[in-house]
Amino acid sequence: MVQVCVIYDKIRFEERILHNKITEKGFTSNLVDGKSLVFNTNSEKVDFELGDIIFQREISHYRGLYVTSCLESLGFKVINPFSVSEICGNKLLTSLALVKHHVPTPNTSFAFSSSSALQLMDKLGYPLVVKPLVGSWGRGVYLIKDRSAAEILIDSREEIGSPLSRIYYIQEKIDRPPRDIRCIVIAENIVASIYRNAAENEWLTNVAIGGTTEQVQMNPELEEITLRAAKAVGGGILGIDLMEDTKRGYLVHEINNTVEFRGASMVSTQDIPAAMIDYLVHECRK
Ligand SMILES: Nc1ncnc2c1ncn2[C@@H]1O[C@H](COP(=O)(O)OP(=O)(O)O)[C@@H](O)[C@H]1O
Ligand SMILES: [Mg+2]
Repeated sequence: MVQVCVIYDKIRFEERILHNKITEKGFTSNLVDGKSLVFNTNSEKVDFELGDIIFQREISHYRGLYVTSCLESLGFKVINPFSVSEICGNKLLTSLALVKHHVPTPNTSFAFSSSSALQLMDKLGYPLVVKPLVGSWGRGVYLIKDRSAAEILIDSREEIGSPLSRIYYIQEKIDRPPRDIRCIVIAENIVASIYRNAAENEWLTNVAIGGTTEQVQMNPELEEITLRAAKAVGGGILGIDLMEDTKRGYLVHEINNTVEFRGASMVSTQDIPAAMIDYLVHECRK
């Protein structure tokens, strides 16, 4: 019997549902706290009774990424693999992958010091959107309306003192309706597509900060861009986020590697966790 291992660092709605679905489908579920795992250079696959396929669901980008690299080096198959997680967890790497594969994406600039970031922002002109390279739920994503806001942001980034906070990801502000689109892709299938409407007095549309959901009617263009974006980062189980630019149409701005589906489940007609398990089992039998 196939044993599916779900690695978490916090059990959310999603991990509970996944666990139930695995059992419901007649497979064995093994929920493992990634924080409890330790590896060493003599570790072998048999030392870890995890399962036949690993579903990496850790919220912490770096912990998930490095646990995945240890597991892969022991010979475990992990979804999503390290190569995909590394790109999706980092907005700069994601932008580069999207551009390389001709996927429409917002114009974005990168700067590697506070002075070049300020110079660049002045040159681009305000308003601008500045984001941390690694992060989610809209945390640290700021709409910078003028130079003084840019200076404050840069000062606070420099104070944080972590190497990544000194790399600046600067994006044009997209003229869009107060919503964005989240498509959940599993291999070559779009299993859910939802609008996320911004909460009142909020420009961010993240469900984590009060955004509400509504089903999107798929169309060939949206489908094509979404699947191309998934392919650009290596495929797997992904959440593709798009904005609707009033002039240019769909632009992909983010790809989520550990996709949350609570909001999507409420409006989607498809059984999202069931489709995820089917894919995991299919991958494990390959
Ligand atoms: N360039 C932009 N122009 C307008 N709105 C944006 C832009 N970038 C992001 N947003 C809004 O901010 C939200 C959070 O940005 P996102 O890049 O998805 O970061 P996070 O990983 O924190 O979700 C998006 O869902 C969208 O609503
Ligand atoms: Mg987002």
